[in-house]
Amino acid sequence: MELTYNRPMQNPNFLIIDSGVGGLSIWQEIQRLIPNSHTCYVADNGGYPYGTMEENALVQRLLTLLPELERQYRPDIIVIACNTASTIVLEPLRAQTQTPVIGVVPAIKPAAALSQSRHILLLATPGTVRRQYIDRLIEDFGQGCTFKRIGSHELVHEAEQKIRERPVNQDIINKVLEPLRQIDTDIDVVILGCTHFPFLADEIRHALPTPIRILDSGQAIARRAQQLLVDLKPRNQDHIPLPGNLFLFTEETEQTHQLEAGIQHFGFDKIGFFRLTATQNAQKSGAT
Ligand code: DGL
Repeated sequence: MELTYNRPMQNPNFLIIDSGVGGLSIWQEIQRLIPNSHTCYVADNGGYPYGTMEENALVQRLLTLLPELERQYRPDIIVIACNTASTIVLEPLRAQTQTPVIGVVPAIKPAAALSQSRHILLLATPGTVRRQYIDRLIEDFGQGCTFKRIGSHELVHEAEQKIRERPVNQDIINKVLEPLRQIDTDIDVVILGCTHFPFLADEIRHALPTPIRILDSGQAIARRAQQLLVDLKPRNQDHIPLPGNLFLFTEETEQTHQLEAGIQHFGFDKIGFFRLTATQNAQKSGAT
């Protein structure tokens, strides 16, 4: 008789990656919904910021880094907790791994369902707003709504500052959102299309000309992960559960030490470094 498993896999291991601390907004939602999970969170600060990196360089970087991480930490699910990366790397990554991969992309469909005025703002990194992937998402799921796009790396920096427990510069946020006052006053939904931005939700709300609904992808990603766990077979004998929640940087800098206290407050059990070998680093930077 064939057994069917309709209980979600217990104590799953997640591998979550972003260029910095932004993906913690996704991790928090996963933790809330799947508290028995353990995560190896990777802040690829050696590649930060992704939002201004050339597309091929970013894809190559992740296709080098992720298999190494996967070999070492044996995740049940990989989460690309970065819109800038997901919008270009999901296809090649899925082609090279057996592990299910969830990618965070802007919440175009829920925004279109929510908007009354049918005018929506996508706030993301400069890389994300110009991706063809976004054009396709809007075409397929935008329900004919008008989408304005603002790309900002300043907001990514301000979010990193906030997690570093440094003051956020409201003037910078106001300036980024200034075009909204001119371009379209009908906008009634703002999509936070960068995982760093939910940490600035209050500051963004403060900078908006009128009360506007703000949407991010965190809860939807956590629900997707939960769904996937129902489909996953119970783990193999050789599965090595993570001993807790682990936070890894890819490069040791002054900033990583400034972030330590903030990261500990999120509840990580250990903070460390994942260093690529010299050969992998050469491949990663495109050197031969
Ligand atoms: N958090 C990333 C995103 O969701 C981008 C951060 C960066 O530019 O490095 O797009």
